[in-house]
Amino acid sequence: MSAGSSAVSSARLHDALWLLRGPQAFAERIARHGDVVRFSLGLTPAYLVSSAEGIHRVSQENFKNYVKGRLYDELRRAYGGELIVGEGAGWRRMRKLAQPFFNAKAMSGHFEAMRAIVAQDVAAWPLGRIQLTTRLQELGLLVMAATIFGEDLSEEDTKGLRDACAYRLEWAYESTRWITMGLPSTATWLLPSNERLRREIARVDAIVHPIIKKRREQGISRPDLLGALLATVDEEGRSLSDLEVRDEVFGLLLGAHETTASSLSWCIYLLCKHPEIERALRAEVRRVLGTRRLAFEDLAQLTVLRGVIEEAMRLYPPAWLVFRESLEDDVVCGHRIPAGSVVLPCAWVAQRSERYWANPLAFDPSRFTPERRSQITRGAYSPFGVGPHQCIAIHFGLMEMQIILAEILRNFELRLSNERVGIAIKGTLSPSPGVTVNLTRASSGRA
Ligand code: HEM
Repeated sequence: MSAGSSAVSSARLHDALWLLRGPQAFAERIARHGDVVRFSLGLTPAYLVSSAEGIHRVSQENFKNYVKGRLYDELRRAYGGELIVGEGAGWRRMRKLAQPFFNAKAMSGHFEAMRAIVAQDVAAWPLGRIQLTTRLQELGLLVMAATIFGEDLSEEDTKGLRDACAYRLEWAYESTRWITMGLPSTATWLLPSNERLRREIARVDAIVHPIIKKRREQGISRPDLLGALLATVDEEGRSLSDLEVRDEVFGLLLGAHETTASSLSWCIYLLCKHPEIERALRAEVRRVLGTRRLAFEDLAQLTVLRGVIEEAMRLYPPAWLVFRESLEDDVVCGHRIPAGSVVLPCAWVAQRSERYWANPLAFDPSRFTPERRSQITRGAYSPFGVGPHQCIAIHFGLMEMQIILAEILRNFELRLSNERVGIAIKGTLSPSPGVTVNLTRASSGRA
């Protein structure tokens, strides 16, 4: 043990029983042993890092020591996309390229395309019982298509992309579970799951390639992300191939796919369970918007709306755990983590901990008023991650969720059809079996 560090606590054998209640319950349980806790992930020793200080150390302060590692290597075997799974020079280049599209200043430019597609889609939702989570996934794809490659997708293509994204994420979850447990990759084996993945990739190709082809043939540069990808040229004068462009586009679709839909589903779920907060939110939307169309400038006035979204992401962070591997020994919160370890910064535990939050399990959007927000401990709230790999689409995702939630509330009154919603056992923290609601026309509807 190095000077200034102490032994890491280990999970005990009986802690494993908590896995029966799901991985989040297990993480909460073992986090009781300390800020950094060693446990076995199959054959691999892993370290759960659940304190705000530890999350900050791993993801920001000493980020160079923590790479995406073998889990992402596995993802790369099946699919590229430097931005989402990359590391090193390729990732840096792509992040730099995509950054201007995603920074805060660019949002006013994306607003109208996003608003129009959301308003049109939500207004056409049928009254009665709907599976909200699936609807939101489809809407998320429409938003991405409209803003990233400036195209309207047909219903068939939307469903095709949604199914391909869903399967790709399912495949990733299943196959990377082996890797994280120290078992060999099965990505190249002749398995029905790998065969299905190839079919899903072909389905994406059939949708995305014609869009790329059309844009190349048109030869006009447009200020959307596809335009930037198509125009990019490296030091040797080489531009991205169609496959590379497809990988980046699909990588973004994957990054966006379950995250915004899950967060919004949890928002609606929590609002339905807290009618007094829903009333306050509806009153704000009515006061700020009246019956007119939502404008970009309104977003800054809709503070309850923003607080509801941020608080829902505190209680249910879609990326509840982040996967890293240490290159060298490090000391985190006074505990030594050896080189080559799997290290897991865990937003779920920190965001629900009494150490950082009063009455942590209560749904209280006022935690995110400007005054109270400034009191949040650094590292205690990280639904979009921390450090250089922090979600590139924070502003994009938040704006999208604000627009969608505002439009839903203006159109509909909602009642939960399934009162008991659990957490799905998969990569993203999604409601299981999805949130189903009963929609009736909002009494205070718009003009
Ligand atoms: C509620 C919505 C979202 C949440 C909670 C979320 C969460 C996250 C988190 C926690 C990370 C960091 C993962 C890590 O450190 O390994 C991340 C990365 C990323 N997200 Fe998001 N995300 C959301 C929406 C989106 C959207 C809409 C897009 C695409 C338009 C997107 C694209 C990405 C990309 C490309 C990365 C990789 C960044 C990098 O490694 O440089 N995300 N996201």
